[in-house]
Amino acid sequence: MSQKIYAAIAGVGHYAPEKVMTNADLEKMVDTSDEWIRTRTGIRERRIAAANETTSSMGLAAARMALERAGTAPADVEAIYVATCTPDMIFPSTACLIQAALGASRAYGFDISSACAGFMMALDAAAGAIESGRVKTALVIGAEKLSVVTDWTSRNTCVLFGDGAGAVVLKASDRPGIRSSLLGVDGNQADFLSIPAGGCKMPASEETIRNHLHAIHMAGRETFKIAVNTMMEAAQEAISRAGLTVEDIDLMVPHQANMRIVEAVAKRLGEGVMEKVFLNLDRYGNTSAASIPLALSEAFAAGKVKSGDKILMVAFGGGLSWGGSVVEWL
Ligand code: UT7
Repeated sequence: MSQKIYAAIAGVGHYAPEKVMTNADLEKMVDTSDEWIRTRTGIRERRIAAANETTSSMGLAAARMALERAGTAPADVEAIYVATCTPDMIFPSTACLIQAALGASRAYGFDISSACAGFMMALDAAAGAIESGRVKTALVIGAEKLSVVTDWTSRNTCVLFGDGAGAVVLKASDRPGIRSSLLGVDGNQADFLSIPAGGCKMPASEETIRNHLHAIHMAGRETFKIAVNTMMEAAQEAISRAGLTVEDIDLMVPHQANMRIVEAVAKRLGEGVMEKVFLNLDRYGNTSAASIPLALSEAFAAGKVKSGDKILMVAFGGGLSWGGSVVEWL
């Protein structure tokens, strides 16, 4: 009988653009205050990509760091999964652009569009390819240039988002690194969180541009409630499918949309869980698909990830869509 193949994270990296936009900067642009943004969201500042930086250039930088930390050459990468809702263009995929720039000559790749849950979807897909034996080494990237799909005249949304990228190298292993993964969508509430125009339903026109329909629209309060319940359930299910209990979790890396969401989820999961949460939301805001790998990479760099640790990742966003996973750091 052939031995079972598992998938494990071998390296993690990130990239954040240099330009910082603070809450004080936003006070000059819309009717808001540093106090409101900090207390309602936990965000103090976010990064804004330069004009010549793109989702692929940021994803590439994150991928290079992850490959270096994994001790893996680009030529060994067989598959590139890029989670993004802000691709450089509709096609070719961001994965193709990164493949060429990296010189990953043996790799295939494609983009995954699932907004803030995109990285969890991509991680699951890559893990599946590895566990099936078809792929031995994959890059899973979450990268976003959300500043180009932000309505900078709307205080409801412009204070929330930022740009950045994160990546992991996933490799075949004889021990389980990805111990569980579950995904879900509910398209019945698609209009709670969307970029309405720019697709075939509402192509770009003077009207779509005038009405800011190429920007993120969100029913914040409604999304908030569903986010808390769904992330909590996804986290519990991911822990249970990994054969663990919440006490076994060493580190929680949640999607970083709102501090109050994270606190509510952690509190419901159990006592002491909040102390295990890694947050960088205060410095980056919500970077959608980049959020979890960017946080995981910073947690790693801060020495908060060690061999044997069980890491809970959980995300929720537009779709609506969500995902949860428990990863053991080998
Ligand atoms: O990543 C994908 C998933 N995303 C999420 O899960 C985000 C979920 N939603 C949220 O994080 C929160 O709902 C927001 C941060 C978007 C909003 O916070 P909230 O506590 O739900 O505020 P609200 O929308 O209920 O608005 C409360 C008040 C309103 O004023 P009135 O009607 O009470 O007079 C808003 O107009 O706050 C006002 N407001 C602001 N005031 C100052 C909304 N945005 C701002 C702002 N500055 N930036």
